Amino acid sequence: MEEKINIPLNGMYVFKPHEEFVKKANINDPSVYERAEYDFLGFWEELAENIDWFNKWDDVLKWEPPHAEWFLGGKLNASYNCLDRHIDKLGDKIAILWEGETGELRTYTYSELLAATSRFASALKNLGVKKGDIVTIYLPMIPEAVISMLACARIGAPHSVVFAGFSADSLAQRINDAGSKLLITCDGYCRRGKVLNHKGKSDDALSKSEFIEKVVVVQHENNDVSMEPGRDVWWHDIVKSSDPSCEPEVMDSEDMLFLMYTSGTTGNPKGVVHTTGGYMVGTYITSNWIFDLKEDDIYWCTADVGWITGHSYLVYGPLSNGATVLMYEGAPDYPDKNRFWDIIEKHKVSIFYTAPTVIRTFMKWGTHWVYKHDLSTLRLIGSVGEPINPSAWLWYYETIGGGRCPLVDTWWQTETGMILITPLPGITDLKPGSATRPFPGIKAVVLDDFGNELVDGTGGHLAVKTPWPSMMRTIYNDEQRFIDTYWSKWGLETYLSSDGARLDKDGYFWIRGREDDVIMVAGHRLGSAEIESGLVSHPLVAEAAVIGRFDDIKGQSIFCYVTLESGAVECEELRGELVDHVIEEVGPIARPKGIVFVDEMPKTRSGKIMRRVLKAIANGEELGDVTTLQDPTVVEDLRRKVESFFERC
Ligand code: WT7
Repeated sequence: MEEKINIPLNGMYVFKPHEEFVKKANINDPSVYERAEYDFLGFWEELAENIDWFNKWDDVLKWEPPHAEWFLGGKLNASYNCLDRHIDKLGDKIAILWEGETGELRTYTYSELLAATSRFASALKNLGVKKGDIVTIYLPMIPEAVISMLACARIGAPHSVVFAGFSADSLAQRINDAGSKLLITCDGYCRRGKVLNHKGKSDDALSKSEFIEKVVVVQHENNDVSMEPGRDVWWHDIVKSSDPSCEPEVMDSEDMLFLMYTSGTTGNPKGVVHTTGGYMVGTYITSNWIFDLKEDDIYWCTADVGWITGHSYLVYGPLSNGATVLMYEGAPDYPDKNRFWDIIEKHKVSIFYTAPTVIRTFMKWGTHWVYKHDLSTLRLIGSVGEPINPSAWLWYYETIGGGRCPLVDTWWQTETGMILITPLPGITDLKPGSATRPFPGIKAVVLDDFGNELVDGTGGHLAVKTPWPSMMRTIYNDEQRFIDTYWSKWGLETYLSSDGARLDKDGYFWIRGREDDVIMVAGHRLGSAEIESGLVSHPLVAEAAVIGRFDDIKGQSIFCYVTLESGAVECEELRGELVDHVIEEVGPIARPKGIVFVDEMPKTRSGKIMRRVLKAIANGEELGDVTTLQDPTVVEDLRRKVESFFERC
C-alpha cells in the first residue's frame, strides 16, 4: 500500500510517491524544475534530442509574442518518429492492440503499422493528395483512424480529425473551413450493439460542402452504403495496388502537423493549428515523464481519436515512445458494466488514462463491478478533461488504483497540445482534487482581472507566461481571433486559458473550470453558441440561450432557455422535437438535458443576453449584480419557470 500520510494540508490528504515507484521512475530528480527555470532554452533543447531529426535545428525558440516558433530550421517527420525509428528494436512489439465493441481483436506490431501506414500513404498520393493539403478524417475508434493520421503525417498533409459523433452539419462546417479535398470515412460502426450508418451521415455533409473531390471509405461493418462513382473509393481497393513503401516527407519543424477544431464562444469552431517539431517534443516528453512509459507497459487511454487527448496521448505521444497502446471501440457498459475492467484484466493494462465523468459513472454503478476483476497489473492511473472532485479522486485512487498507483490529474487544452499542469509521478506529492504543479518549464499563474498574480489562495484566471513547444500557433484562417481570444487580456505575452483556478500555499493548482461560454459535458467541449445556433435554426424558436448546469456525473449538463415565435405553443412534444433538432444539428453529445420556455431573456441595455444570470438561476446560485439588466423584473419570471420545470421533472 502507498504510504498515506494524514497531514491535513487544506484539510486534505497528501499522498507521497511510493519508494519503489520513485526508484524506477523515468524522472525522479526534483531538481528538474529548477533546471528548467534557470536554463529554459537548454532544458527544451536537451529534451528535443529525444526526437529523431533529419536535420538539427538552428535556434531553439523565436518568440515574437504571441507567435512562437520552436526548433527553427529543424527537419523531421512525425510518422517516422512514431514508426520507422522503432523498427530495429521494436519491430515485433505490438503498437496497437484494438478491441472492437463486439469483442473482435486486432493487433498491429510496429512493423505492421509501418507497412499499413506506408501503403495507405502511397494510396493517398495516388489520389492526388499533396504536401500541405488538409485531409479530413471522420472515423470512429478503429485502427484505420490512427493509420490515416500517421499516413497524412508521412506525406506532409495536415489532418483534421472530426469526432465521429458530430453531426453532418458540424462535419460540413469543418470541411469547408479547412477547404479539404479529401475525406476519409467508413461504412458504419457499432455503438451499444447497434450499427450506425456513418457513410450516410458523411454523404449528408458532402451535400453541404463544395470542396471534397475524393472520399475514401473503410469497410468496417459491411452495412449497405451507396458509393458515388468517381468520388468514393474503398480503402481496401486502393491499398491493394499502392506502393508498399513510402518515404517520409522531410518536414520543417514549423510545418503544420494537424488542425483540430474546438469549440469557442461563437458558433464557428476554431481550427487550432499545431506544428510538427515542438508538438512532437512536447507530447513525447510528457508521455514519458507523466505516464512513466516503460518497455513492457500496456497503456490504455480511453479518449476518442477525434479529440486532442486522442491525438497527443493515444497516437503521437505514446507511439513516439514505442509503447503498446490499447484502443477500444465501444461503450463502457456494453454488453454490461464489466467491460472496462474486463479489458484491463484480459490485456493486463498497466497504465489507464480516463476522464472524471467515467470515474463518477462507475462510482454510481457500484464497486461490485470492479471488485470482480483482477486489476493488479495497473501501476499508474490518470485523469483528464474536467476538474476531478476529491471524493471521485479518492475512489479512483483506492478502488481502481488499489491505493498503490500514482494518480496523475493532468490539466491541459486542445490549444496547449500537451499536458501543462500535472504531477510527475516519481516526484510529486498528490492532493486529491488538485492537478498539482506546472510541468517543468511551464510558468502557469493565477491572475486577477488586472493581471496581478494571486498566490494567497484567492480564485482567479489561469494563465501561462512562457511559451512551450507544443502550443497552438494560430487559428486557421483567423489570426485575429487567435490574438483576441488568447492574447489580448493582459498583453501579447500572457496566454489566457479561460479556466478559473486557485493556487494554494504549497503552489498547488486547483482548477475550477471554464470561465467563458464553453460547456464541458463528460469531458467534451461544446460552445453555448453552437447549440444556440442549432436551436434557433428551428422555425418555432425565436431566441435561445444555453448554459452549463452542474451535474454530479458529467460535470456539466446542457440547459437551454428558449423563447418561442409568437403563436407557437409550449408543450412536451415541442420540447422533445427541439432535443432531437439539436442532436441532428450538432450531434448526440450536445443532447440538452433541460429546455425551459421563457417569455423573455435577461438582457443588458445593449441587448446582450446575460448568460451569467441564466447560469446562476439554473444552478440555484446567488445572482450577483443584476443592475445592468435592462429589465430586472424578468429574473422573477425566469426563476419561476425554472422551478416549475424541475418540479415536473
Ligand atoms: C478544457 C479543455 C485536453 C484535455 C481534454 C479536453 C478542462 C481539462 C482538466 C483537468 C480540470 C480540466 C478545462 C480546459 N480540463 N483537463 N485535469 N482539471 N479541468 O480538452 O476539449 O480542449 O478542453 O478541459 O476546462 O479548459 P479540451
